[in-house]
Amino acid sequence: MRLDGKVAVITGGNSGIGLATAREYVNNGASVAIFGRDKESIDATVAELGEKAMGRAGDIRKLDDLEAFFKDVNEAFGKIDVLMANAGVAKFVPFDRVDEELFDELSDINLKGTFFTVQKALPHLNKGGSVILVSAALNRMGSPASSVYTATKAGVQALGRALAADLSGRGIRVNVLTPGPVDTPIYTRLGYPEKSVRSMIDSIARQNPMSRVGTADELARAALFLASDDSAFMTGSELVMDGGAYSIKKNK
Ligand SMILES: NC(=O)c1ccc[n+]([C@@H]2O[C@H](COP(=O)([O-])OP(=O)(O)OC[C@H]3O[C@@H](n4cnc5c(N)ncnc54)[C@H](OP(=O)(O)O)[C@@H]3O)[C@@H](O)[C@H]2O)c1
Repeated sequence: MRLDGKVAVITGGNSGIGLATAREYVNNGASVAIFGRDKESIDATVAELGEKAMGRAGDIRKLDDLEAFFKDVNEAFGKIDVLMANAGVAKFVPFDRVDEELFDELSDINLKGTFFTVQKALPHLNKGGSVILVSAALNRMGSPASSVYTATKAGVQALGRALAADLSGRGIRVNVLTPGPVDTPIYTRLGYPEKSVRSMIDSIARQNPMSRVGTADELARAALFLASDDSAFMTGSELVMDGGAYSIKKNK
């Protein structure tokens, strides 16, 4: 019960890493509020998590949606101890085929959305609170067709350090959780047929030094560490969990 009595907010808590984290936090005693665009999965997740959970459908690109959500959270729980700004989207398009629409979509969700999630939560964040931003290990190494996604996630990584400096005077820690490849619906949302998605994940797994991809539950346990007092002396820092994908060569 490492989050007993704490209130945690998770954007994208209705899928993948965010959903696994919502379950982990509730199992560790927290009340949890989740936010995402798909009302059906928000409602289903809240029902699954039980009476210590609430949720609201909205888009992190819309500041009014974020304000309405944090107003709800404040009315329901009165404070926020943990904020995981996890919502994000991935799209991989060769550089010369990136258009303005794609650039704006990824920037608006991954970078601007993350930025204003923290800003709009700030009035409700407790002294001693923990903010977790979610980047991507892909930004540690140049990779084809990833220019916009990588740039937005590198922005999130830098934002984590800057916000840690801004918020240290308020006693709020800010750290970045940086996943490598993790088997979540993010791959099915890329728009490829199911069969190619499976073979793409298998191929990524084969190239990983640990010969597999990560699980959402593994990332959730890392998010628990960053949320809890176990990481009390950690701010402006990054926790990379990628099976070594972007740090070491595979020993075949
Ligand atoms: N899985 C990986 O391999 C991997 C690797 C590196 C980094 N990451 C990062 O980890 C985070 C979680 O990804 P995941 O793998 O768990 O993917 P996922 O299963 O696709 O979950 C993404 C979540 O973000 C929410 N979301 C997306 N756009 C949103 C918007 N405009 N407003 C509100 N919510 C929005 C989605 O909810 P709705 O669809 O309901 O809006 C969903 O709950 C992302 O930031 C991703 O970039 C993932």
